[in-house]
Amino acid sequence: MSSVDTTIQLIRTGQADGATCAPELADGPWIFDSSPLPSYGPGASMGDVIPTGSPRQGQLPTEYQRASNDELHVRIRAAKATLGDRAVILGHFYQRDEVVQHADFLGDSFQLARAAQTAPNAEAIIFCGVHFMAETADILARDDQAVILPNLAAGCSMADMADIDSVTACWEQLEALYGTEPDAEGRVPVIPVTYMNSSAALKGFCGDHGGIVCTSSNAATVLEWAFQRGQRVLFFPDQHLGRNTAKAMGVPVELMPMWNPRKPLGGNTADDLDASKVILWHGFCSVHKRFTVDQIDRARAEFPGVRVIVHPECPMPVVDAADEYGSTDYIQKAVAAATEPSTFAIGTEINMVNRLAAEYPQHRIFCLDDVVCPCSTMYRIHPGYLAWVLEALVRGEVLNQITVPQDVAVPARIALERMLAARP
Ligand code: 13P
Ligand code: SF4
Repeated sequence: MSSVDTTIQLIRTGQADGATCAPELADGPWIFDSSPLPSYGPGASMGDVIPTGSPRQGQLPTEYQRASNDELHVRIRAAKATLGDRAVILGHFYQRDEVVQHADFLGDSFQLARAAQTAPNAEAIIFCGVHFMAETADILARDDQAVILPNLAAGCSMADMADIDSVTACWEQLEALYGTEPDAEGRVPVIPVTYMNSSAALKGFCGDHGGIVCTSSNAATVLEWAFQRGQRVLFFPDQHLGRNTAKAMGVPVELMPMWNPRKPLGGNTADDLDASKVILWHGFCSVHKRFTVDQIDRARAEFPGVRVIVHPECPMPVVDAADEYGSTDYIQKAVAAATEPSTFAIGTEINMVNRLAAEYPQHRIFCLDDVVCPCSTMYRIHPGYLAWVLEALVRGEVLNQITVPQDVAVPARIALERMLAARP
């Protein structure tokens, strides 16, 4: 099976049937590094508003833009061989195959953050994922380890939907409404919970305010932890992960108002906020928002007996219509555990679904969305950038280092450690 990138090129040149969500996907990502208006680039997040001040990537030297993929692979392998265990390359499940083939570890955002710690000799951790993941790796890494993001424009539109100023303003309004006194059972009025897919500043905010981080694999355990300590939860940035998880735990959706940061009290009445159990931030993932109940209905009509598995970042009706839902790690394990040849329709990023289909040819595995539309920001990392940062390391130069300042890293680590200590 060809990689997602190859498929995109074949569709562009009319050699394959199918559709992509943007013709620009076939161009080198460096085209977008120099665009006067910063954008997430082609792919699922192309319609999202990029905040001013988002990191920009300077021009990739032309020798890397012009090199063929074959040449880049040779150069990457040579640089890796020279660096040996002084450098470790991490690849997220959603990363393109052309990058993943060079990764020492492949995993979800949290596994990769920890993988960095399991490479004690690595002076450089090259994170082929997105910005918040590189920040988390830096928070958990030793001081003498440099975390490198090969393309600084590889952000995350969902993480950018909640910023520290808007969350602080929300918190002040909630404190004015609820006060800060615990109830008779010792539970404070509200506990902040941030999804791993958020800036280090928001993880720090949670560390400073009795809160915690969660991932898509431990969100229910973390919400239990929070409900033991608080009367309600403020969950950011992903409304869907918050809603799907709390609903499965028995929280009625009516007790989950949404907080719109542009409106007073988030667009809610004080009574609604008083009765609430989970206040959901108005954020979402544009990759997972593409999945629909209609796609599931069509998959079931075409393949009776199909197993539909979706990620909890999908909207609630999609999760409700699926057979199962879970994190990227869950999806990976569910496919690996299937003993009989089966048909899987999967609602998560196309690079991961495509790779599963190639890895498990005994099954029929396809993405629920038949339009090829990768995560825009994961897609900003191309082997050209990987070769560029690795060859610089060989020369003793560290490019694109992600450094979380100590005043943010210390409380952020507290919120991450609370997550690690939380048990089901
Ligand atoms: P995980 O890697 O934690 O499953 O999250 C999915 C995702 O959207 C990563 O950006
Ligand atoms: Fe962000 Fe969604 Fe891309 Fe993950 S898949 S990095 S949440 S935009």
